Amino acid sequence: MSHILTSAQLTNDDLSALFHSAEAMRGAALAVKGGAAEWKRQVPTGTVLATLFFEPSTRTRLSFESAMKRLGGEVISATGSDSLSVSKGETLADTIEAVSRLADVIVVRSTQPIHEWFSCSCWGGFRVPVINAGDGGNNHPTQALLDAYTIWRHRGECRPDAIDHVIPCNKVFGIVGDIEKSRTIRSFIEVFSRNQSNRFILFDSTGRGAKFHNWNRFDDIQHVDTEDHFVAHMQNMDILYLNRVQKERHVESVKGHFVLSHSHLQKLKPTCLVLNPGPRQEEIPVLLDYNPAVKMWEQVENGLYVRMALLKKVLGR
Ligand code: NCD
Repeated sequence: MSHILTSAQLTNDDLSALFHSAEAMRGAALAVKGGAAEWKRQVPTGTVLATLFFEPSTRTRLSFESAMKRLGGEVISATGSDSLSVSKGETLADTIEAVSRLADVIVVRSTQPIHEWFSCSCWGGFRVPVINAGDGGNNHPTQALLDAYTIWRHRGECRPDAIDHVIPCNKVFGIVGDIEKSRTIRSFIEVFSRNQSNRFILFDSTGRGAKFHNWNRFDDIQHVDTEDHFVAHMQNMDILYLNRVQKERHVESVKGHFVLSHSHLQKLKPTCLVLNPGPRQEEIPVLLDYNPAVKMWEQVENGLYVRMALLKKVLGR
């Protein structure tokens, strides 16, 4: 495993190995918190992670940085193009090339699609692993990884039929959000559509009736046009995935048209998990945060453990 650019690159075997490694990270972290054990350094002293974030981030950047520090490494960080030489006209590829001489692994969030990160001459040639932390509205592989890990951790609740498989089967996924522009929805569907027995019911919360670009011609993606129609499917859902409207990716002003309610939650199966990559806007009111079905804050914590596992893996440890 070297560069991690899309969720599609992570095979089911990779996911399984990373989930088990994340469990070990969690176990060790909890043992340290409980005062029971010494935290063992997981990467060599002086190992450096560089984070280059050209779009805002709270969870992704800070969890990568926290992950590297908890593994025993160091972090250097730059946020926003104003502070970097891209503002002088340097290409992103040259920026990454320069930083690859200074760090052992690079995490990049960019407004540009990943293929533009790599100039033709050095495609795949950066000397250290590069991890995509979100490239415009395209991919967000580590969010899909932590979403899948969160679902896997609840496997006993939501899929007792296939306890050892990383991708559950015969599940109904309800997805509400910015169907056209959300990179988390795109990567999420990529991972869970690997099993053809799963079904997806999508509702575009921008009110524009956008349709998901079904790149892999997965059969069972159904778009519903109204909230009532979406709610009518809720009783069959095993996972409900919500994501905010990506206002910054629209030229015109758009707002979210879906707000999860207590009455929606009552319609869901008792085993249904409600996920949201965050940051939330109107789609989950604060009052519902601690409803047992809602795993939004658990996802943030899981992001730390899977990113520890991933960093360790790409560093060859
Ligand atoms: C997501 C992103 O940046 O795409 N956030 C995150 O990484 N947790 C989702 C979003 O911003 O809506």
